[in-house]
Amino acid sequence: MPPLSGKADSIGRAMHHPCRLGERKNENMAAIVINGAQWGDEGKGKATDILGGHVDFVCKPNGGNNAGHTVVVNGEKYELKLLPAGILTPNVTPVIGNGVVVNLEALFQEIDGLESRGADCSRLRISSNAHLVGPYHQTIDKVTERFLGKRAIGTTGRGIGPCYADKVNRIGIRVQDLFDESILRQKVEGTLRSKNELLVKLYNRPAFEVDEMVDYFLRYRDRIAPMVCDTSLLLNQALDEGKSVLMEGGQATMLDVDHGTYPFVTSSNPSAGGACVGSGIGPTRITHAVGIIKAYTTRVGAGPFPTELFDESGEYLRETGHEYGVVTKRPRRCGWFDGVVAEYATRINGFTDMFVTKLDVLTGIKEIPVCVAYEVDGKRFDHMPESQSDFHHAKPIYEMLPGWTEDITGARTFDELPENAQKYMKRLEELCGTRVSYIGVGPGRDENVVINDLVAEIKGC
Ligand code: GDP
Ligand code: IMO
Ligand code: MG
Repeated sequence: MPPLSGKADSIGRAMHHPCRLGERKNENMAAIVINGAQWGDEGKGKATDILGGHVDFVCKPNGGNNAGHTVVVNGEKYELKLLPAGILTPNVTPVIGNGVVVNLEALFQEIDGLESRGADCSRLRISSNAHLVGPYHQTIDKVTERFLGKRAIGTTGRGIGPCYADKVNRIGIRVQDLFDESILRQKVEGTLRSKNELLVKLYNRPAFEVDEMVDYFLRYRDRIAPMVCDTSLLLNQALDEGKSVLMEGGQATMLDVDHGTYPFVTSSNPSAGGACVGSGIGPTRITHAVGIIKAYTTRVGAGPFPTELFDESGEYLRETGHEYGVVTKRPRRCGWFDGVVAEYATRINGFTDMFVTKLDVLTGIKEIPVCVAYEVDGKRFDHMPESQSDFHHAKPIYEMLPGWTEDITGARTFDELPENAQKYMKRLEELCGTRVSYIGVGPGRDENVVINDLVAEIKGC
C-alpha cells in the first residue's frame, strides 16, 4: 500500500537576505501552531514535546490551568497545566503569551513541583499583558455552574470563564498591574464592587476584601518580576533572526468560544487564529498549523457529542485509552472517530498537517465504525450543521472498517503498520482533508509512525 498522500505542500517562502527595498523580510524561520481538533486531550503535550525539542521558543497562547498536557519522557510522566510543554526541554525558552489567564498560586506550585523533579524553569517568560485569575473568579465559576443546574457546562472550576469575562468587560487585572500598587488597588476595588454585590445578594456568599486581594496578588510580585516582558516583541524578534517558535494551544477547536459547541465551550479561542492573537505573532508568519486528533473521540464536561458510546465499547475505549481527565480526574466520555468534526477543524484552523494519536488503543477491535456524515431528521449532513439544534440531534452515519490484532506499538514507518491499520489511516486522512504526518502508537516521545518529518522541515526552514 502506498504511504499517505501528503496533500498539503510545505510552505514556499521567499528567502532573500539581506532585505532590499520592496523585498520580503527574512522568512528563514518556522512558526508552528499546534491545536486540538476535537474536544481536548488529543495529545497536544506529546506533540509539543516532540516538535518542541527542535525549536527555540514554545509559547502557550490561550487558556490557563484548565489544561492538562501529559508528556512522557524516559518513562517519567509529567502533567503540565499552566506551563507550556517546552518547559521540559533544555535550551527552549518557554513563554506564557498575552492570551493566557494566569493563576499565580497555581503557576508557582507547578514551577516548584517541576523544579523538585530537576526541571529548570528559570527561562520562563510571561507576557505583561496576560490576565490574572483571582480567587473570586474561581468562586464565581463554581456558583454560576451550580445556578445553571441541568444546563451547567461542566467547567474545570478554575475560574477561567469569569477571568476572560473580566478581560472582555475591561475590568480585568493584568500581570503588569502588579508593578503599580496604586493602579492594582484601584482595579481590584473596581472589579470587586460589582462582584461582591452579586456574590452577597444573589449567591449568598461572603464578599471578598480589597486589602486581602491586593495582598494576594502582591505576594507573587517579586518572584514573577524577572520573568515578565513584552513576549510579542521577544517572539517576533526571534523570528526575525531566523529562530523557530511553536505555539502550543490549550483545549481544542470544538471548545472554541466562537467555533465550538457553544455554550458548552471554554472562554478562549483555541484555534490557529486564536494562537496568533494570544501570542502577538501575525498570521502571515505561521508556517505550519498542526492539528492533533485522536484515532477515536473523547470529551470531558457537558455538551453534544454525536459519536458518544454508552455501551461496553465506550467503556473499552475509556479503560484501554486511560481516558480520565488530568485536571479534574473525571472519566472522559468516549466515542468513535468523527470525520465531520475532523473536516470542520481542518477548515477552521487551516491545518497543514495532522498528528493522529492513540491508534494503538484501537488494536484488537474487530470492526471499527468511523462517522462519515450525520443524519438529522432524515436529512444528510456531510459538513458540520450550522445550527446547534441540528448538531444536538445529529445521528452519526457510520462506515465500518476492518480492524487489526497485531501489536503496532513498535511501528515507526507507515509500511510497518498492518494493512487494515493503513486502510484506517488512509480513510481518516481523506476525512480530515489534509495530510497525516504523524501517527501515535504509544504515549512515549518516540512511539510514533513518522510520514512527513516535520522536525526536518523545521530545521530546513
Ligand atoms: P492534551 O491535553 O492534548 O495534551 O492530552 P492529555 O495529556 O490530556 O491526554 C492525552 C493522553 O494520551 C496522555 O495520557 C498521553 O500520554 C496519551 N497519549 C498521547 N499520545 C498517545 C498515543 O499515541 N498512544 C497512547 N496509548 N497514548 C497516547
Ligand atoms: P486540554 O488543553 C478537555 C472543558 C471543560 C468544560 C469546558 C469549559 O488538556 O485539552 P473551563 O474550565 O475551560 O471553563 O471549562 O471546557 N475543558 C477541557 N476539556 N481538555 C481541556 O484542556 C479542557 N479545558 C477545558 O471540561 O467542558
Ligand atoms: Mg488534556
